[in-house]
Amino acid sequence: MARGAQSRYVCQTCGASVLRWEGQCRTCGEWNTLVETVVRDEPKPRPSAVVPGSAAPVPLSHAGDPGSEDRRPVGIGEFDRVLGGGLVAGSVVLLGGEPGIGKSTLLLQVAAGVALSGATVLYATGEESTGQVRLRAARLGLTTGTVGDAIRVVAETGVGRIIDLARADRPGLLVVDSVQTVASEELGGPPGSVGQVREATLRLMELAKAEGIPVVLVGHVTKDGTLAGPKTLEHLVDVVLSIEGDRTGGLRLLRAAKNRYGSTEEVGVFEMQDKGLAEVADPARAFLAEHDAPAPGSVVAPVLEGSRPLLVEVQALVAPTGAPSPRRTASGVDPNRLALLVAVLGRRAGIGLGTHDVYANLAGGLTVTEPGLDLPLALALASSLRDRPIVPGTVAIGEVGLLGELRAVGGLDRRLREAARLGFTRAVAPRARGRDAARVPGIEVVEVGSLADAVRVSLLEVAAGPRRG
Ligand code: TYD
Ligand code: MG
Repeated sequence: MARGAQSRYVCQTCGASVLRWEGQCRTCGEWNTLVETVVRDEPKPRPSAVVPGSAAPVPLSHAGDPGSEDRRPVGIGEFDRVLGGGLVAGSVVLLGGEPGIGKSTLLLQVAAGVALSGATVLYATGEESTGQVRLRAARLGLTTGTVGDAIRVVAETGVGRIIDLARADRPGLLVVDSVQTVASEELGGPPGSVGQVREATLRLMELAKAEGIPVVLVGHVTKDGTLAGPKTLEHLVDVVLSIEGDRTGGLRLLRAAKNRYGSTEEVGVFEMQDKGLAEVADPARAFLAEHDAPAPGSVVAPVLEGSRPLLVEVQALVAPTGAPSPRRTASGVDPNRLALLVAVLGRRAGIGLGTHDVYANLAGGLTVTEPGLDLPLALALASSLRDRPIVPGTVAIGEVGLLGELRAVGGLDRRLREAARLGFTRAVAPRARGRDAARVPGIEVVEVGSLADAVRVSLLEVAAGPRRG
């Protein structure tokens, strides 16, 4: 064990630490989760201590001037957009996502971008052999020319050795794929344990800050969608990115959950193709499903992902059930919100779903958390129950309150302009209070005050005669 380091036992579930091993964590009650971890006694900065590099005070009016950080675009527009303009020297980026979603593919493409700008890249792989990385690179067409030479791959899981290599090579980018496979030689815990993941991240951060090398760490997410390892990992790094999407479909969304050098508002939209991730030309329409005929249970919503309007299709299916507690299944939408809307529909709009199973999801594997999705989701449920489609060409947006009242959402004009551009002609939206109604050329805005009214104006009248199959 290194000098100046002591060991503690850290719970792999909650991150609590104790001096001696115990069978059960006293903080969270989980069994067999304590793992030995090195704790460095770092000298506590004295109040007067001067941090090198940030010593000179600058006037607030000039603080953070553009150019005050050394930022390098990697040449992939959607990636640079999410980062806020490119990779910052000395920053540590954590890229999370489910297995098979495209993390390694994206990072090889990023590596190629850095290589094209004239720098070298060190790609440390602990998951795959160098041969496997080469195969993927060959598929992406990156094994030849300057790019093939400038990206150097090493199959290494010792974090100390990776750091030594980076110190010697001084690459323009270090990729560690993945942080769960690397381990510090000083620790007893297995790779992937909270102690190891934290220690590896801390040491790679030291490297990044000391040498000015940007470091990208791949992080696996567990089944419930959280990054494996303690939450504290997200606090340590500078930027947390995640790729999401439906693995069977092609679309991938890149988001920033945290960004010390830019906004977390931007999203990047990609499509996984034969030769890697391609930027999507018209992201606003990418998540719309195509239908031959209007389908009951489907409602299009103009949502805002940060500053970017996207049209997404909310789909719902309700089916009668004899089960005492009917199913409520949500994917891509908040299950609590779904349960609440089912209750509000029953009590405030006369649409009882108490004896029905309810399934809701967003087309394209997207996840949307904004409250404006309430109204389209509620309308999709009503449309499915009544087996009547929404009036063709209609979009809907708005938050639903507990009393069945509707609340306005921000950026309505921006959302509706995008909907109009994509050929929608009618929008159901909450009544504007104390301001002018939204007026967007090409789209008729139907303002409603309650969920019950919204249902009335949104569902298509079914003509008498044979029903659609
Ligand atoms: P990968 O980057 O290995 O995912 P991760 O590192 O997140 O586990 O990508 C895995 C999937 O992407 C795999 O199912 C194959 C697919 N893929 C393509 O469709 N096109 C491509 O050009 C590449 C390289 C991969
Ligand atoms: Mg991978």
